[in-house]
Amino acid sequence: MIPFFRCPNCGSQCQPQAEMLICPDCGYAASPSDGIYDIFTADSLRHHQGFLDHYHRIRRSEKRGSEQVAWYLGLPTVPEDHPFRKEWEQRRASMEWLQKFLAENFPNRNLDVLDAGAGNCWLTSHLAQWGHRAVALDIDNDPRDGLAAGRHFLQSLPISFQRVRGDFAQLPFVAGAFDVVVFNGAFHYALEQGQLLDEALRVARPGGAVVVIDSPVYTTAEDGEKMMSERTEQGRARYLTIMGLNDLANARGLKLQVFTPSIGFFGWLRRQATEIRRGREIAIMDRIVFSKPEME
Ligand SMILES: C[S@@+](CC[C@H](N)C(=O)[O-])C[C@H]1O[C@@H](n2cnc3c(N)ncnc32)[C@H](O)[C@@H]1O
Repeated sequence: MIPFFRCPNCGSQCQPQAEMLICPDCGYAASPSDGIYDIFTADSLRHHQGFLDHYHRIRRSEKRGSEQVAWYLGLPTVPEDHPFRKEWEQRRASMEWLQKFLAENFPNRNLDVLDAGAGNCWLTSHLAQWGHRAVALDIDNDPRDGLAAGRHFLQSLPISFQRVRGDFAQLPFVAGAFDVVVFNGAFHYALEQGQLLDEALRVARPGGAVVVIDSPVYTTAEDGEKMMSERTEQGRARYLTIMGLNDLANARGLKLQVFTPSIGFFGWLRRQATEIRRGREIAIMDRIVFSKPEME
């Protein structure tokens, strides 16, 4: 049970009553369905339905997810012949970086961590296995690719975490509910990156952090726009730029850290060759940390 839900109707803090969430001010009540709290308002659903339909169509055509529970439990490791193996290798490296980052920056602490845009909850499951109190939030409750797939981890592993269906641009949590908010392959889905960062900072505690991993980062918007123009499908997913990240941090007086994954000499050579062939920069999946000051 999450003690820090914010009522989607009036903004008051909801009170837990058994499995239910009750707003003491407006009477809003929510109970979980198959373990998922659906805090999506009708307005939000209308706003996001087009995106969800498009996203489902793409992800189904890519055959995301699996029939096998073992496949989910193995994530981020996938079989050698998996069509998205490279992507999952990238995910694994970012996950290992995140584990180290949390251990070094919040030593010996069991943290409240929000996995915002959690998809099938694979990272939430690892956060819980590392001892943190984890919450998965997504607008997608698809049984293969969205929050409902989180059941595989919860039913098979000795862990617990909460699943919440909601919009990360309007988080259904009270201020200061989490030590860390992680966007894993999700921040670049923002309709407005500054607004998304502000919302994540609102629910982060003083001294906490907003961490962005596995979003494509370009040095300049010019190369990001070139990448967008090469796409056959124009979805909501976009890109980040170093300049844009600096602007976001500077406008809010935040400390920004950008950790660039090392790709080795041969990786660098391959990258150079691809950049020459494509006539643009190849995005780097930098790991980005916005630190929230101790005192505001
Ligand atoms: C590429 S997937 C990444 C999923 C997961 N983090 C992972 O690593 O596999 C992006 C996720 O962001 C979610 N998303 C996009 N817009 C969202 C929003 N406004 N609120 C919450 N989730 C959103 C999508 O539903 C999707 O699950």
